[in-house]
Formats: sequence, structure tokens, C-alpha cells
Amino acid sequence: MIDTKPTRNLALELVRVTEAAALGAARYMGRGDKIAADKAAVDGMRLMLNTIEMDGVIVIGEGEKDSAPMLYNGEHLGTGQPPQVDIAVDPIDGTRPLALGLNNSIATVALAPRGSMFNPGPFMYMNKIAVGPEARDVIDIEAPPAENLRRIARAKGANVNDLTVVILDRPRHEALINEVRKAGARIRLIPDGDVAAALMTAIPETGIDVLMGIGGTPEGVLAATAMRCTGGAIEGKLWPRNQEEIDKGRELGYDPSRVLTINDLVSSEDVFFAATGITNGDLLHGVEYFRDGARTESLVMRGLTGTVRRIISTHRISKLSQISALEY
Ligand code: FBP
Repeated sequence: MIDTKPTRNLALELVRVTEAAALGAARYMGRGDKIAADKAAVDGMRLMLNTIEMDGVIVIGEGEKDSAPMLYNGEHLGTGQPPQVDIAVDPIDGTRPLALGLNNSIATVALAPRGSMFNPGPFMYMNKIAVGPEARDVIDIEAPPAENLRRIARAKGANVNDLTVVILDRPRHEALINEVRKAGARIRLIPDGDVAAALMTAIPETGIDVLMGIGGTPEGVLAATAMRCTGGAIEGKLWPRNQEEIDKGRELGYDPSRVLTINDLVSSEDVFFAATGITNGDLLHGVEYFRDGARTESLVMRGLTGTVRRIISTHRISKLSQISALEY
């Protein structure tokens, strides 16, 4: 029998986590100090995550890549009471654009039942393809870009030249960009931030149809939790940078030739995701300051129900400063 009583939606608590991170980090917009911005976001996240009634452990932490201040993998957060959850964090996805005052940096966090999130191990990068709900069943990370684009266009009742592909602007994507151009699709090259880019494929008003290319593996897991909620899909393949990563991965039981489906990246539907804009972007407005206050915009989502909420919050800095350990 179905238990009809609605259950707790942790995403509504997670929004305080990403808001705190965004409010802390946004003060550093354009100030050229990635480390200070990261620290402010991490401090906000850690403080708020610890207020949540949960027994959480960080599976997807961030920071190893540039030895930034971090929420460590294996760190326990929350009150220690059930539910037992895996936590994925990216306190700032788009640290560089934030430091330079550019668009599209967000704070993001996700929760899933303990043991259900993919552990990236030594693999910092993966090749990804992500799409919204209409094309969720047709993508294949092993097929050539032109073939994926044909299938996506068909699923969407469109032509390939109607599609917009978002790709991280990196030299490693030269061949991919050429192939997409040859196929006739439009391209949005982005300097950073492929969690928001993956999510945009599932949000029609962004005009993005598909994300392709190599980005962070942790970001892939975060995007997978968001796609679980939106009904979109993501598929990937680990992208080892060298033989050392391959050997280390093999020792730990990873097979880089394996296709990682959304199910492999997060094996449960019972997930929660939140993101708050730090700088203005296609997905979310950034933090806006005004006299004694700030406004944030967030997306919060739940996998079990598929509910996606956009939350605009007004924060009173003089009040918060009286009760909070954080600097606003
Ligand atoms: P951070 O800001 O969290 O460092 O990541 C930004 C980002 O653009 C990710 O969105 C993306 O997955 C990754 O970096 C790509 O890595 P690289 O910049 O090394 O190509």
C-alpha cells in the first residue's frame, strides 16, 4: 500500500546551505582571490549543513584539484541522526569566473541515500553528455557527436541545426567542436561551470539542448542528482589524464572503458539538490546587494517527486550578523 503521507523534503533545508555559500562567496566577485572566495563558500556550507538533521558523509568534496579550502571527502556533517546520506558539494562551481567577476558561478549541493553516489576515485575528469527529459532515452556517450545530435533532434521533433550544444571552452575540445559544427548544430562555448550547463538542458527557457565534452567527475555526479530530479539524463565515461591514473584506478577496481549511466552516477531516485546563483547566469540570478540586504535566487529539487522550486530570498544583513558566525 502507498503511504500517502508526504515526507520531509531535505531540498528545502539544503537551500539554506547554498544560500549561505553564495552570500559568503559573492562578496569576492571580481576581487581576484579564488582562495578567499572558496573559503567563504565552504564556511557557509559547513555551518548550515551541520544544522540539518541527518547523518551525512561527504562523498563528493571539492578542493583537491587546486588545493583550495575544502569540505573533505569522508567528513561527517549534520546532527548525526538518521537519515544516513551521501553528500556532494561544489561550494563554487565557477571559481575563476567569480574571481574575475564573470557570469555563471553557482553554489551547489546534493544529498542521496548512503552508498548511492559514485565515488570518482583518482579520476578528476569524465566525458559527459547530458540532455533534458525529451531526449533522455536516446543518448549514447560512445556514439559520435553527429549521431547523438541526430537522435536528440529526432526526439525533440527538431532539426540538428535547431539544437544548441553547450561545451566547455578548452583546447581538448577542438575535435568535438569541429564535429558539432560539421553536423550543423549551434554551439555555446562556456568558460566554466558544467553543473549549471548540464542542468540547463532540462530547463527549456535556457535554450540549451545538450551538454557535451570533458569536465570534472565530481561535477558529473552533482549534475546526475539534478538530472534525477528534472527527468533528464546524463551519461559519461571516465577520462584518465595519464597512465598513472589508469593504473591507480585499476588497482581500486575502476574500469575506465565502462559507460557510466545516470544510475551508476547516483543509484537512487531519493535525491535532493539545491543551487544558488553567485554571479548572474543563464540559469540563476547572482547575489544582489542593496541597503542592509541581499537577494538570492535558488533552484531546489527532489528526485522522488520531481518537484523543482525556484526560491527568491531576501536576507537582512543586520539581523543575520547578530545571530550568525558568518560574515555577510
Ligand atoms: P571549479 O570552479 O569548481 O574549480 O570548476 C569549474 C569547472 O569549469 C567545472 O564546472 C568543470 O567540470 C571543470 O571546472 C572543468 O575542469 P577544467 O577547468 O580543469 O577544464
